[in-house]
Amino acid sequence: MTDTQIKYGLAGVVTDDTAVSKVMPESNSLTYRGYAVQDLATQCRFEETAYLIWNGELPTNDQLDAFIAKERSQRGISKDLLEVMRKFPKGAHPMATLRTAVSFLGLEDTEIEDHATDNLYDRSVSLYAKIPEIVAADFRLRNGKEPIAPRDDLGFSENFFHMCFGEVPAPEIVKCFDISMTLYAEHSFNASTFTARVIASSLSGVYSAVTGAIGSLKGPLHGGANEAVMHMLKEVGTAENAKAWMLDALATKKKIMGFGHRVYRSGDSRVPTMTDAYQKMVDIIGTDEAKMYWDMSRILDETMVAEKGIYPNLDFPAGPAYYLMGFEIPMFTPIFVMSRITGWTAHIMEQLGDNKLIRPLSNYTGPAQRDVPPMGDR
Ligand code: COA
Repeated sequence: MTDTQIKYGLAGVVTDDTAVSKVMPESNSLTYRGYAVQDLATQCRFEETAYLIWNGELPTNDQLDAFIAKERSQRGISKDLLEVMRKFPKGAHPMATLRTAVSFLGLEDTEIEDHATDNLYDRSVSLYAKIPEIVAADFRLRNGKEPIAPRDDLGFSENFFHMCFGEVPAPEIVKCFDISMTLYAEHSFNASTFTARVIASSLSGVYSAVTGAIGSLKGPLHGGANEAVMHMLKEVGTAENAKAWMLDALATKKKIMGFGHRVYRSGDSRVPTMTDAYQKMVDIIGTDEAKMYWDMSRILDETMVAEKGIYPNLDFPAGPAYYLMGFEIPMFTPIFVMSRITGWTAHIMEQLGDNKLIRPLSNYTGPAQRDVPPMGDR
């Protein structure tokens, strides 16, 4: 096998069919079940998008009401899980604690070996309902505060703010957050979704697949980039410093977080919508710090595009938007999980609907076959 036959990083390799979403690099666009993601983000609430991703069609009013009731009925994590979470080391990253907590949900599910699609759907809604509470409880516990129970009268995004802060902010802020949930929900065969499909293909079960996907998303080259972006903005420090910082970073061949994409080469259709949401956050917050981050972001973006022709990805506006909403930086990737659980589980269901164990080949480059020498000759 020659190097040209090997697709390093599986770049450009099509491994299966999917009806969940379509990434179109030629037009930098993305559709979920045929709908443009930016239209869903601005015209629908996240619950409608979640329903669409799982069911293939947008819900009618009655279907949405039933779906919302189903999600709310699944809210509430066990006392046992909360006790385990209290024992998590305080310095552990929230993605690591979330990975463990989701794995624990699997231990609590007594029907774990059942792979029927109906049960997968129920489990998917259950994970979607419970993950926000895990993220919020972990945030409060690590800050020495008691977790806040979910409220059945609040929507998905409002309820998350309530569980984190004990209050729901202005509707405009909730809408910015809700937009980010829709934009992050699904993105075809990215690393974490592919991880989920690989694990699902061995019939290991949905909790294994989601736990593995969380591990994959945690990395800074994937989901962890939204956190890395905010660390970068803090390191840059001031808007005045932004251009010089970027030029120096490029000269020293640093990877600039929040820029570039394996599939999109000239922009990402999710970015304008998230950038609008970020700008709205800046206007609502109205502080000098918020305006400074906005100016800094614009300068970094312009400099990167001018110097390298590399465009921002969704993490670039999402990181500072979450920061301005009041979330701690290490929560940004767990927040991404709250959304991406919909895409992951839709793919797990699709994989198991017509399963074939995923098992690629490798090109061996080690020593030729040889005899085991006796101990004295080694
Ligand atoms: N900062 C600086 N240079 C970058 C870059 C970035 N964020 N992204 C790509 N490049 C450069 C590469 O170094 C490479 O330069 P070279 O040809 O001189 O070696 C060139 O652009 C081509 O990039 P390539 O390595 O083919 O991109 P990839 O498809 O392997 O990587 C990412 C895609 C996402 C892993 C990469 O862009 C990256 O690490 N981005 C930062 C992390 C991030 O934001 N991740 C979130 C993705 S949604």
